[in-house]
Amino acid sequence: MNQVHLRPLRYKDANRLAQLANNKKISMNLRDGFPYPYTLADAKKFIEICKNHTPVQVFAIECNGEYAGNIGLYPGEDVYRRSAEIGYFLGESYWGKGIMTKAVKQMVEYGFSNLNIVRIYTGVFEYNKASQRVLEKCGFKKEAVFEKAIYKNHQLWNEVRFAILKPMLQFNNP
Ligand SMILES: CC(C)(COP(=O)(O)OP(=O)(O)OC[C@H]1O[C@@H](n2cnc3c(N)ncnc32)[C@H](O)[C@@H]1OP(=O)(O)O)[C@@H](O)C(=O)NCCC(=O)NCCS
Repeated sequence: MNQVHLRPLRYKDANRLAQLANNKKISMNLRDGFPYPYTLADAKKFIEICKNHTPVQVFAIECNGEYAGNIGLYPGEDVYRRSAEIGYFLGESYWGKGIMTKAVKQMVEYGFSNLNIVRIYTGVFEYNKASQRVLEKCGFKKEAVFEKAIYKNHQLWNEVRFAILKPMLQFNNP
């Protein structure tokens, strides 16, 4: 049984982050801001940015005590400030073991308990069936398909949007 827990990123995670993230099979599923190749300098820069978030928005995913990937919640601005986007990745050797399903469930719980948000959403590239399945298993609802919204690797792709709402919410309260 894999024990999954989330903790803040540390400066000393940089080497391992660069190793885990430097994989085209990962970057092809993420925005171009997640580079390939993914260098040690990229990892250091990312951790530095994360250290400035209060409360913590990005966590390291630990599986049986090993740093295995990242998961983050990014609150919106202006009228979108009660929503947050979720994003995540796992090193390839950890795929297919139910780890991200556990991590997303923990992150949703953290977000609704600690951030002033009522909605967590994300957009998945159409070909990323594993991530869509993770979201379904975590109770997210498939809300829409944004046709040809993604331009990745010189091709257009549909974006599949998922969201989950905070339970038992009195929606009109400020
Ligand atoms: C997507 C990702 C997060 C999945 O993490 P994971 O820990 O392997 O996911 P889990 O093991 O919890 O669940 C994966 C589910 O997808 C299913 N799955 C995997 N590949 C699939 C495919 N090609 N088609 C359909 N289902 C698939 C698995 O069978 C499993 O579902 P099940 O439990 O019902 O059998 C991981 O592969 C990853 O980090 N990928 C690269 C980055 C990325 O895609 N990030 C998300 C961007 S939206």
